[in-house]
Amino acid sequence: MNEGFGHELRRLRTRLGVSLKSLSEMTHYSKGYLSRVETGARAATPELAGRCDDVLGADGSLLKYLTAAESRFGSPGISRPAQLPVVAADFVGRQDAIRRLDGMLPTRGTTVCAIDGMAGVGKTALAVHWAQRVRERFPDGFLFAELAGPGPGQGTRPSAGEVLAGFLRALRPGVVIPATVAERASLFRTLVDGRRMLIVLDDAGSVEQVAPLLPASPGCMVLLTSRIRMTALTSARLLSLETMSRPEAVRLVASTIGEHRTAAEPQATRELTQVCELLPLALRVAAGRLAARPSWLISSLVERLREGEEGMSMLRLGGGTVASAFRPSYDRLNGRAARAFRLIAPLDAALTSVSTAADLLGSSHAHTEDVLEELVDASLLNTPVPGLYSCHPLLRSFARDLVRQGGDGSLDPFTGENESLEAFAGERHEPAPVQAPPH
Ligand SMILES: Nc1ncnc2c1ncn2[C@@H]1O[C@H](COP(=O)(O)OP(=O)(O)O)[C@@H](O)[C@H]1O
Ligand SMILES: [Mg+2]
Repeated sequence: MNEGFGHELRRLRTRLGVSLKSLSEMTHYSKGYLSRVETGARAATPELAGRCDDVLGADGSLLKYLTAAESRFGSPGISRPAQLPVVAADFVGRQDAIRRLDGMLPTRGTTVCAIDGMAGVGKTALAVHWAQRVRERFPDGFLFAELAGPGPGQGTRPSAGEVLAGFLRALRPGVVIPATVAERASLFRTLVDGRRMLIVLDDAGSVEQVAPLLPASPGCMVLLTSRIRMTALTSARLLSLETMSRPEAVRLVASTIGEHRTAAEPQATRELTQVCELLPLALRVAAGRLAARPSWLISSLVERLREGEEGMSMLRLGGGTVASAFRPSYDRLNGRAARAFRLIAPLDAALTSVSTAADLLGSSHAHTEDVLEELVDASLLNTPVPGLYSCHPLLRSFARDLVRQGGDGSLDPFTGENESLEAFAGERHEPAPVQAPPH
């Protein structure tokens, strides 16, 4: 790995037995700044290189080294990345979550905050909206990585090493990427040392995927979103995002189709938020359908969704967008958890106890509790009270469709595409291919 100018400066200084303090006194640059130059976290200037040449009697070799390194690495120094994606202009509500995030802004040390919640609940929207809101607190820039990969069915999740390579290039264009993940992580920590940056890691799949991406620098913050509760990430503060309140949901619909339409049908608007079960993704899909059909009444869409007319359901609407969003959460389950989800999630009861679930699964109390907690960690069940479990109504419909599908055929219940039966075979559960929703 080539550490560049800083490495060369330190090599020369230590060979001559000059301490960092003495170099600071001789050159009139602060010790902290010199130290950051040596670790590579700060770029050297030609003035600094020339001054060090003079005081160390290096005969211009450092300046020559810097000029050569610059031409090798492209632009010198560290750039200020600004990778946050565009935010939805009509973000609504979430005041409590925003206040909690405000309270987690780093004061001393690195703050890691993990937002979890079911698919489509608004984790990414919240993370990006909040990041934009506090952007002036992070003058050294923003890094953003999509950890779920390019999209359903389009490839695997990027590894920590791949994400680190992207971050290193963003921080120092032209940098030589070290070969191992450990070296990349160490260079990453070096480059962000002493800087105030916000690093957003979206839709993380596992603790292993994010652990090497956490800087150690005070003043940095990591905001990660995941369907999984990151309880194993002991340094993280957790924020579980629930579905929206009714007024938030009504505002989301109004912002998509226009207030003139929701004001004309206030009762139907509330019913629509009910059919969407207050899930932001479902609300967006349904409102998007209405926005594209200005002549439709809100009440007629509600009716069609309720009655399942022409096979229409919230899960199928918009090419199966909601079902496709749920699918990866299910596909990630191991065999026993997938089986438990198919048996327990379809139940009508608002709350299911461990003993009811144990009877259904034919398992011991302890085993059942373990598997139910696994489903809670995957954001497929909730546990509003210890020992009792509930399932979001749209996930319940999703589970029922899975079961219906498991009985007979080979068609994906939501998109009509072929799908391997093994996906539903229980113990040897393999992820089934997921179809991207047509746009
Ligand atoms: N507070 C909000 N205001 C407006 N739209 C929202 C809000 N939260 C979520 N959405 C919309 O709902 C959809 C799903 O949100 P997203 O953040 O992608 O969910 P998640 O990341 O939890 O899967 C997106 O279209 C997003 O724009
Ligand atoms: Mg997301």
